[in-house]
Amino acid sequence: MSIKRRNFIKGLSLSPIALSVTGYKKAVADFVSYSPERAFGFSDNKVPMNAANLCPMPISISKTIADFNEDLDIDMSGMNRLRIGSMKEEARAGIAKQLHVKKEEIAITRNTSESNNIIAQGLSLKIDDEILLWDQNHPSNDVSWAVRADRSKCKVNYFDIPLSTDNYDNIINIIENQITKKTRVISFTHISNITGFKLPATEICQSIKEKYNGIHIHVDGAQTWGVEDVDLTAMKCDSFSGSSHKWYMGPRETGLLFVKESAVENIWPSIVSIGWGSKRKTSAAGAKKFEAYGQRHDAALASLAETVKFHNEITPKKIQKNAYKISEYIRESLMDIDIDFVSSNHHDFRSNVIILKAAQENRKKILQNILNDAGVILAGTGGLRLSPHIYNTIDHADRVVRAINKSRKLLS
Ligand SMILES: Cc1ncc(COP(=O)(O)O)c(C=O)c1O
Repeated sequence: MSIKRRNFIKGLSLSPIALSVTGYKKAVADFVSYSPERAFGFSDNKVPMNAANLCPMPISISKTIADFNEDLDIDMSGMNRLRIGSMKEEARAGIAKQLHVKKEEIAITRNTSESNNIIAQGLSLKIDDEILLWDQNHPSNDVSWAVRADRSKCKVNYFDIPLSTDNYDNIINIIENQITKKTRVISFTHISNITGFKLPATEICQSIKEKYNGIHIHVDGAQTWGVEDVDLTAMKCDSFSGSSHKWYMGPRETGLLFVKESAVENIWPSIVSIGWGSKRKTSAAGAKKFEAYGQRHDAALASLAETVKFHNEITPKKIQKNAYKISEYIRESLMDIDIDFVSSNHHDFRSNVIILKAAQENRKKILQNILNDAGVILAGTGGLRLSPHIYNTIDHADRVVRAINKSRKLLS
């Protein structure tokens, strides 16, 4: 850096990027050596327990986004943009490795809604083809298909899994009994955001693929990616979606779409811009053809690479184990005080999305009471929804359970 430029930057009170106080290493050190609260930086009277909707980032990763943004503003040269832009490729490779797939099978999108819609709007379908959905799918994986079915004159069918179900075979039978000669796609949410029910996605996909290889299976992983240690190769789904701003604890408006190599050809992109190539036939490798959006938020994408390393350091296995530890503690504490659940408490079907029965008209009041009494942020989706993650502690859990008990009259 020239002396003139250094003096100019000094004059603006900008310091050169100091990754020692930002980035994944600081996030991990804060998390391991101090406390989850210190690593994530939220205030003690506004504790997030709503990962199913939005997670905080480790504070030093959040600062990394600001650093990369500032770095770009200071130096917009092609070289610097390439350096920061290339971190998206690091993120892609890291995510692929964590999910046990090839990096060419990963598109970095903006969120699960977009990823679900790339499949729903882009899959090649003909008149009278049938689409089979779980009746608990999120609108981006439900209404999106209805719109698509209208456009292409297809039919949408639904399968319904009773929450009292207690074995995998029943679930697989229910789904397979709904398959007809015209079924071309099956799309379901791995973990429901409205009941917390976890479908045995691997067993479902493996069984269907063995008998009906031609059916495209899409799995919405919004409530899975970042909290469950998923192996997509073992799962055998054709596509899988997720949002980094949920359980992955990464930058907002960055998302994931996995598309199996053999399925890429059969899906049309929704946006074609820089990144596609200059010809009709794309020069983008594999699933990258789905992210030819033009200019992007490079600082967020570069910080996604830091989030990948945060997961690698703590390890996806430990994240799942620790996240489940806190949700089990909360679940047992709520059972001890006899609260009614919407969620299944069966070992095979429960998840970190815990939903309690709560009348719709009381939910706003309960949420406010819990925020006032416990300083904890919950959601009113599907009932009273608690979705704790690794940044939640026993103290948060005890506080929230006490506050729920105090407001229990409003629950029914
Ligand atoms: C199961 C499921 N799918 C998709 C979405 C949409 O996620 P996003 O808003 O990040 O696109 C959500 C959001 O809560 C969800 O719960």
